[in-house]
Amino acid sequence: MKLKTKIVLISFFFVTGCFVLTSFVNNIKKIESAEKVSDILYKLGDKMSLHFIASNKLDSNKVNSGYNLVTTGFMSPNSKRQSKHFVCTNCHNIGREDPDLTQSNPEDRLTYVAEKGLNFLPGTTLFGQVNKKQWYNGDYYKKYGDLVVSSRDTLENAIQLCATVCSQGRVLDEKEMDAVMHYFNSIGYTLKDLNLTELEKTYLSKSLSSNALDEDKKGAMKIIKSKYLDYSPATFMEPMALDKRRKSIYPNPFNGKKIYELSCLTCHKEGGVTNYKLSNEKLTFKHLDYWSNTHKVFSVYDITRKGTYSKNGYKPYMPNYTKERMSNRQLEDLMEFIRQKSEGIKLRQFVGTPSF
Ligand code: HEC
Ligand code: HEC
Repeated sequence: MKLKTKIVLISFFFVTGCFVLTSFVNNIKKIESAEKVSDILYKLGDKMSLHFIASNKLDSNKVNSGYNLVTTGFMSPNSKRQSKHFVCTNCHNIGREDPDLTQSNPEDRLTYVAEKGLNFLPGTTLFGQVNKKQWYNGDYYKKYGDLVVSSRDTLENAIQLCATVCSQGRVLDEKEMDAVMHYFNSIGYTLKDLNLTELEKTYLSKSLSSNALDEDKKGAMKIIKSKYLDYSPATFMEPMALDKRRKSIYPNPFNGKKIYELSCLTCHKEGGVTNYKLSNEKLTFKHLDYWSNTHKVFSVYDITRKGTYSKNGYKPYMPNYTKERMSNRQLEDLMEFIRQKSEGIKLRQFVGTPSF
């Protein structure tokens, strides 16, 4: 073969090689982007939930109206307020709150939400609710009984239960529900939330190609679904026995401070949803510290596990924190913060010797 022909041939293969490689990389990049998990599952041929709206069918006006309803209680300036007592975001974040979506771990969550500037709340985030298959799981049956049975299986029913019972307001009308569904679908998980490995991404992009085998599609769906919980586990806890309290070794008051500020104060600050105000005054901390040695209503150990109930004439109530929304260790961190503040000392974490 002549040298010239060789050069031509080599250049030809080099250029085609580069072309194939870049298109391959582009393909993976496209998958890595903000594509919605539900859209991908749909493309792979999964059976979709009733509430599914494909991203290209989302109406941005409805998304905005849904967002307004969830964050302010009003769908538009002249609509009727959904609840006089709460807005959804008093109890639920609307952003991602778990670093690993296969776990519902309150300790990892606290660090994560504090970094992202979100709150640490008793309800599960509304972000990714469209990716769930069941609502009001686990022990919520104990609290709401038969009410949850009809609300477990569809997102719309779950929302209506929360709108009336959790939020102490009215049922959403058809237009409002439609708007909330558009909004919820707009805050579904995206592929990048799933922390896929490079290998998994390559496999997924292959499974999405037009000539993919059914087996590959099924495999890809399985991989995707193994990356998040499709329900929020909920375990109710009894208030800790008096003789078990403050026995945790080296509680962390800095975590306690985060809980106080990102959880308790969001409702109990001036202008919050309740008349019972908490503040950063020493007196507040003394009061909480004092009652927490009892089983009375002002005891932080009791109120967090039991919550309160709405009464006729006074609707605001406090939801209980499940084990998945606040661990006993975190409760001790909170109490250590309260104790140190009640003594007016500069926050410090004791290491080496227990602090009691
Ligand atoms: C006073 C607190 C509170 C308010 C206000 C509230 N919720 Fe909830 N919501 C909860 C709690 C607690 C749960 C129990 C399950 C969970 O979220 O982990 C819940 C459950 C839900 C669920 C099912 C979540 C799951 O994974 O099981 C949805 C959906 C929901 N709420 C939507 C809403 C919407 C929409 C609004 C506003 C109209 C709203 N909530 C207002 C406290 C509240
Ligand atoms: C979603 C809102 C919300 C959050 C979050 C919340 N509370 Fe409450 N809390 C309430 C409401 C509402 C009441 C009902 C009492 C009232 O308004 O009179 C209440 C009652 C209480 C009471 C009893 C007071 C009484 O009069 O019955 C204590 C103590 C308390 N909360 C402490 C806390 C602490 C500590 C935290 C943080 C771990 C916290 N709360 C988080 C809304 C909340």
